[in-house]
Amino acid sequence: MRVAIIPGDGIGPEVISSAVRAIEAVSADIEMEEALMGLDAHRRTGSYLPERTVELLRDVPAALFGAITSPLSYDPTYRSPLLQIRKEFDLYANIRPVKRLHPDIGLVDLDAVIVRENTEGMYTGIERDEGDGVITERKVTTRACRRLVDRALRLCREEGRRKLTCVHKSNVLRRSDGLFRKIFYERAEGQGIEVSDMLVDAAAAALITKPRDLDVIVTLNLYGDILSDEAAALTGGLGFAPSANMGDDLALFEPTHGSAPDIAGKNIANPVAAILSAAMMLRHLGMKDKALRLETAVKDALANGLRTRDAGGRLGTEEFTRAYLEVLGTT
Ligand code: NAI
Ligand code: MG
Repeated sequence: MRVAIIPGDGIGPEVISSAVRAIEAVSADIEMEEALMGLDAHRRTGSYLPERTVELLRDVPAALFGAITSPLSYDPTYRSPLLQIRKEFDLYANIRPVKRLHPDIGLVDLDAVIVRENTEGMYTGIERDEGDGVITERKVTTRACRRLVDRALRLCREEGRRKLTCVHKSNVLRRSDGLFRKIFYERAEGQGIEVSDMLVDAAAAALITKPRDLDVIVTLNLYGDILSDEAAALTGGLGFAPSANMGDDLALFEPTHGSAPDIAGKNIANPVAAILSAAMMLRHLGMKDKALRLETAVKDALANGLRTRDAGGRLGTEEFTRAYLEVLGTT
């Protein structure tokens, strides 16, 4: 099976190197083809998103991506390559597992997955001046809600998760969020999964006070953005947070962190988020056992006290990766 590997900028190549070696350690039948994107791609090819990269993405079911750096100085021609890909391939669902991997890491005992709408809601980007203020268009469509809820249900079935919670603010946004809530119950009831709904402010609190009550959360764009950063912080921070951007033809897997220019090239970055993103990719490609091996080895490595600096340890990226691969070899 062929997949695209897009290391990107900053710590992207460092953490993706770890993830690629982890994939190689568990699977011989994944053909990984590297592609360019971001600032370094622009330096080398004149484009932030070379056509060759887009063509490769058209040919593969999945891609593993590190991170890119936004241009520092203003470039009027710049369009975020990630947004371009999200649009071009209609990657409509952002999926973020948020799981505490060890009692010493993070703050609460959470094991949840946030499924976030990725194409509309508050982030349409459509704003206009009116009177002495600015009006922002917020959009909620039946189509987007349906496919989002269906994607969340599929995830529940595939991963054997028992409970799905719709997070919204329909007490205030009665029509738009009301539509989302209504579609949620229409699609999700009677599917053999426990369903419930919660207001977003209550959900923000529940992540801290009742983490075990939450399993899979399905929510709109803005709420998902905020709750997933909160949840990542509660479970160890950016170095541990993987994600997927799912469409029907392509899925892009990436650590949620950026290119971290402050630590790039210093052999400090935590590669766990990238390794866990690789595990998500393998699971998506039907290689459940291999995904589980990567994940179990992360848990075991952390339990053995292997830690990078962000997690209170002393290991560099390379030292952690080598030790991790050793653990992986014994699972
Ligand atoms: P960032 O996520 O790169 O870094 C935030 C802080 O977390 C930094 O102090 C960094 O050192 C630390 N950090 C991040 N990942 C880490 C890891 N794996 N191990 C240890 N520490 C880690 O966010 P920031 O600084 O806001 O953005 C830096 C650049 O990345 C910007 O150009 C931004 O546009 C870009 N960015 C790209 C994203 C992507 O490609 N998906 C997402 C977010 C930001
Ligand atoms: Mg965010």
